[in-house]
Amino acid sequence: IPVERIRNFSIIAHVDHGKSTLADRILELTGAIAQNSGAQVLDSLQVERERGITVKAQTASIFHTYKNEKYLLNLIDTPGHVDFANEVSRSLAACDGVILLVDACHGIQAQTVANYYLAKMRNLVIIPVLNKIDIKHANPERVCKDLYNLFGIDPNSVLKISAKLGTGIDAVLDRVIEKITPPQVDRKPPFRALIFDSWFDKYRGALNLICVLNGSLRVGQEIQSMITKKSYPVKGITILRPKEDPIETISAGQVGLIACNMRNSKESIIGDTIHLKNETVKAAIRFKPQQPMVFAGVYPADQSKHVPLRGAIEKLVLNDSAVTVNVDSSPALGQGWRLGFLGLLHMEVFCQRLEQEYGTEPIITAPSVTYRIILKNPKMIKQMGKECLELSNAALFPEPFNVKEYYEPLVKGTIITPTEYLGQIISLCVDRRGIQESSINIDDDRILMKYILPLSEIILDFNDHLKSLSSGYASFNYEDHGYHLTNIVRLDIHLNGRPVEEFCRIVHVSKATTIAREMVAKLQELIPRQMVQIAIQACVGGKVLARETIKAYRKDVTAKLYGGDVTRRMKLLKQQAEGKKKMRMFANIRVPHETFIKVLKR
Ligand code: GTP
Repeated sequence: IPVERIRNFSIIAHVDHGKSTLADRILELTGAIAQNSGAQVLDSLQVERERGITVKAQTASIFHTYKNEKYLLNLIDTPGHVDFANEVSRSLAACDGVILLVDACHGIQAQTVANYYLAKMRNLVIIPVLNKIDIKHANPERVCKDLYNLFGIDPNSVLKISAKLGTGIDAVLDRVIEKITPPQVDRKPPFRALIFDSWFDKYRGALNLICVLNGSLRVGQEIQSMITKKSYPVKGITILRPKEDPIETISAGQVGLIACNMRNSKESIIGDTIHLKNETVKAAIRFKPQQPMVFAGVYPADQSKHVPLRGAIEKLVLNDSAVTVNVDSSPALGQGWRLGFLGLLHMEVFCQRLEQEYGTEPIITAPSVTYRIILKNPKMIKQMGKECLELSNAALFPEPFNVKEYYEPLVKGTIITPTEYLGQIISLCVDRRGIQESSINIDDDRILMKYILPLSEIILDFNDHLKSLSSGYASFNYEDHGYHLTNIVRLDIHLNGRPVEEFCRIVHVSKATTIAREMVAKLQELIPRQMVQIAIQACVGGKVLARETIKAYRKDVTAKLYGGDVTRRMKLLKQQAEGKKKMRMFANIRVPHETFIKVLKR
């Protein structure tokens, strides 16, 4: 198929606006899959089905006849959620246009706005489409007006469809062919292609999804990575229709999967440019990997599961190169890792996949962010070899007298909400140390606000709170907003005067007392009564911010026995001793393993 009859495009939408349903209808209409096959074909990972969200971008090459000519459409599926802006922009690098899909009932949402600007920044053709017009209370006129107000989109150019019922899909495909430009590629050598996704296959190693920009590539030729300079023989090339279909040669304008014996994510780099061995070509895109923003400890439930967990993490990271991995250890939880994620949902999806796809049951600790700490003590600067510490682990927090300044990461949040929830949402943002930057009315009863918020205040449960305050109607999206001067302290937990390293946390000064009370109350509930009285204290520096006491109690397991039966007595004492083994001792206090897990887990 000549390049003029190829279209590379993607569907972008807020979560649940119907992207996968539309993709399925397009595949059915073009005969790529049987009609009413039911399941959403592109969302192939189990976690995606369960959560109903798309995690990995996946692709399908399909044919469509328009005015008696056959066209090749490469549909590139992109994830819709905040944390995956990375995958969205990477997928968009392979596209010339997008379908901007908006739910005709719920209207424009925070991620619609974010995705619109991602596409706009890349100068992509944007085809606005309203979905779910079959629903009774759908209000396409109003959403058209909002699209005009926010983005200046001409209401006459907006298509109206029902992906569920399959109405209007033809018109969408026609519009794709009419409006989106063919890829700006050249069939002449030298061969050059962009890797825009990769995943791991048990038998073939890392598979690279590429979009060919110049020339063509044959099975058996040798390719080279621009970043690593390593070269590989091409073992196989397939096209996704959406099932893999082997081909011998792939040419400029096409999107396909190549297997070439790459073993891990260090070799198969998303955003890399590949070319034939010993040839020089221009890089496909300037590649800037997204930095992880949220960190959490991952530990095996018991140390015998260490090796399988390590294997699972290694394989999953190949599939998701945005995750960073560092070895970590904790006296209570043993050997583990500290993983860095792009955001909270990214972390949840990764951990869920660890469990579902690899059958591991890891303990995930509460997530934290990375602070920057500027030291002032020359001796310590010399010892560290640098003036600025990047720190997410509270146990390594330096003494305040060594520190000049603290910085914390901020985000710029976009919130879209019906006006009736405005009051509660503003209170929530104020409570989370947010500062409003702007607010505009989208229409009579919906408002778009921009807030600058500390990342540490949103990673735990901001989105959940926002959703429950607004009965699910408000939506939230955020982007990185750099580091800002802040005032943080280390909150320590002492048991009978001894600090317990695992429980210490970095908190903002204004939150220290509240968090101190919460922690102490939680521990009072979770630590079992023992033979000595236990004082639980939460302190900052030398100052106690909260305190509770657990009264002493002698649990005499043999109390119910009368004299005589020594063996029975021994057995009970032995059981009690067994139970004690899994505990950690602090100043004669036993803290059960489960308590650590309950407190440290998110
Ligand atoms: P993410 O993959 O998480 O981004 O979601 P999505 O945008 O792919 O949404 P999906 O296709 O999973 O659809 C979300 C829900 O909306 C599903 O329950 C669909 O059945 C429903 N839905 C999609 N299109 C229509 C439509 O045209 N009409 C109606 N009534 N429901 C629809």
